[in-house]
Amino acid sequence: MRTTVLALIDATTPQCAAVMAAAELLRSGGLVAFPTETVYGLGASALDPSAVARVFEAKGRPANNPLIVHVADLSDLARVVAVWPDLAQRLAERFWPGPLTLVLPRAATIPDIVTGGGPTAAVRMPAHPVALTLIRAAGVPLAAPSANRSGELSPTTAEHVQRGLSGRIDMILDAGPTRVGVESTVLDLSVSPPRLLRPGHITLAEIEAIIGPIKRHAIVAEPKPLPSPGLLPKHYAPRTPMELQAGSAARVAERVRQGQKVGWLTFTAKPDLAAVAVVMPREPAVYAARLYAELHALDQMGLDRIVVEMPPDEEAWLAVRDRLRRASSG
Ligand code: TXA
Ligand code: MG
Repeated sequence: MRTTVLALIDATTPQCAAVMAAAELLRSGGLVAFPTETVYGLGASALDPSAVARVFEAKGRPANNPLIVHVADLSDLARVVAVWPDLAQRLAERFWPGPLTLVLPRAATIPDIVTGGGPTAAVRMPAHPVALTLIRAAGVPLAAPSANRSGELSPTTAEHVQRGLSGRIDMILDAGPTRVGVESTVLDLSVSPPRLLRPGHITLAEIEAIIGPIKRHAIVAEPKPLPSPGLLPKHYAPRTPMELQAGSAARVAERVRQGQKVGWLTFTAKPDLAAVAVVMPREPAVYAARLYAELHALDQMGLDRIVVEMPPDEEAWLAVRDRLRRASSG
């Protein structure tokens, strides 16, 4: 299969031929990678089970891992979820369009393959003009996981998508790097109290300010049965072995002494260490926006190892620490 890459000159006015061509492809069962504010998604019509099956095939994704359905308007929700509780309405009013995914009992219109056969569907309205225009033009909600091979790093640029999926999907819409850089916060509203399934850009504190206390999930432990297969410890990982370390300078020095070529994500560079040092910002959202791009870049350098300085154990760093742990486990 040939993957067409269409570059959008101006992502703020996406009523262009490229987006219309992508919408047409989606309507006829094709796969299109498109930008959202978090990471690039690999979209298919959420109402077309054979198109969604191709998403699983292109990613090599286990069939029990359900997909997020993306909508552009609240009027699309009736095709995705069976109920729309007041809690969901309040969260949507505050955070949509934006990086918050809500899990609710599914509508009958959503095929089994989207939900992994389960009774719930995950839904969000992405805050990206290209994504919103594309969904509206396609005329269907889009099932879209991150546009990477299963288990690998999520893509924050069209080049990242190409590296993983070129030849396996029909089209990539390139609108430049994504703004948020980590995947959406996933909140399960099908249980009471609501439960955090995946930390993300929208923080616990922001959610609790709207709906009161929610259940915090043990982020690293592997629960049984799995409430969300995205919680599998090994996920979002570079190909280069990666370790997370407090006081990482000593570990980097040790690895360098062992003769290894080391990439190092740090907060304070020690220029005397013979490692490829990347000095990361001390602000969690800024760090998150850069994280995957830096890991993708280090992964291209033929290093023996990536060492990452563990960010502070604070709630504001929850999403970043979660992704770093997954990228380094196993
Ligand atoms: O920011 C994002 O969420 C990106 C962009 C493209 O929207 N999408 C994304 O999709 O990260 P994916 O497939 O890589 O991750 C979806 C996560 C997985 O952890 C999956 O298990 C969980 O959401 N999920 C999806 N449907 C679910 C459901 N019905 N119940 C529980 N978890 C669900
Ligand atoms: Mg993913």
